[in-house]
Amino acid sequence: MSRITAAITAIGGYVPKDVLTNQDLEKMVDTSDEWITTRTGIKERHILKEPGKASSDIAVEAVKELLDKRGISAKEIELVIFATVTGDLIFPASANILCDKIGATNAWGFDLGAACSGFLYALQTGAQFIQAGTHSKVLVVGVDKMSAIIDYQDRNTCIIFGDGGGAVLLEPNYEGLGIQDAILKSDGSGREFLFQKSGGSLRPPTIETVTNREHFVYQEGKTVFKFAVTNMADVSKRIMEQNNLRSEDVNWLLAHQANKRIIDYTAETMGLPSEKVLMNIQRYGNTTSGTIPLLFKDFEKKFKKGDNLILATFGGGFTWGSIYLKWAYDCA
Ligand code: COA
Repeated sequence: MSRITAAITAIGGYVPKDVLTNQDLEKMVDTSDEWITTRTGIKERHILKEPGKASSDIAVEAVKELLDKRGISAKEIELVIFATVTGDLIFPASANILCDKIGATNAWGFDLGAACSGFLYALQTGAQFIQAGTHSKVLVVGVDKMSAIIDYQDRNTCIIFGDGGGAVLLEPNYEGLGIQDAILKSDGSGREFLFQKSGGSLRPPTIETVTNREHFVYQEGKTVFKFAVTNMADVSKRIMEQNNLRSEDVNWLLAHQANKRIIDYTAETMGLPSEKVLMNIQRYGNTTSGTIPLLFKDFEKKFKKGDNLILATFGGGFTWGSIYLKWAYDCA
């Protein structure tokens, strides 16, 4: 029997209906549409406003679309890996909640936290179960409700983040398509440049932590920018080199949507023209674990069977990485 590879066979994505534009933010903090657009490329982001709704509810909508496209029942899913930093609860895992909400009664699952690289970590983790031959339908979810941990009085962060995400289905492939290679990295010494100060076991919630606004995202933007630019570009170039891919061999770059300037630099380092660089940052901002699945959703129709895709991310932690995959199907 030929080697089993893990291929994406269906995609679903979802963003909440409410939109927060740069003009809205101008009324909330000292900023301008012009500043946000030139520094980040973002024009608007979607926010989940409905009371009682959480990250799992975004995932439910994405997974419904995926199951519908693939024509399977949730009961066929064997494993759910849910990448998020905004799980519904500290515990249990949002994977459990999602399985309950969609009726995936035969699946086991867990959450995976690697900030903006969460989806890539989850994809590579899910691929191992397929390649090992132990699982044949693995659901990989990347969703965040960032508005739950964003301080809308802090112009350094509130302009960047939005809510949304998506899911992909991994299944065995016997034609050599699907995930080919991955380089995943982490460096915990960068943890204090982009993080949530309180709420975990280090600094559990107190009246003081709430008063000091420590349950929101804290970011030293300039430092994160420098690390993101060099590491995301470096890892993307390395994955090309170690797979003997020239720029002309790469069909599409799907890079984490945090800042247009970081994506542009990564593409330049890889020698890619702008038409191969997929971008939707202007509509969604940075949805953390959600950016790569939302790129899949928005641009799926462009992909042809056999296309070479490079995925690249950088996130808090620090975490970063790149995955090389061969697309496994033509879109109708
Ligand atoms: N509106 C207007 N002015 C702002 C602003 C805003 N929203 N945010 C910061 N500024 C100001 C600063 O106060 C500073 O003013 P000063 O020069 O008078 O001190 C000036 O703009 C430049 O700030 P700086 O932080 O150096 O801007 P920047 O060019 O680095 O852009 C980010 C800020 C956050 C957009 C950028 O650093 C970034 O994208 N960082 C990485 C973010 C990222 O990738 N995060 C997620 C990783 S997963």
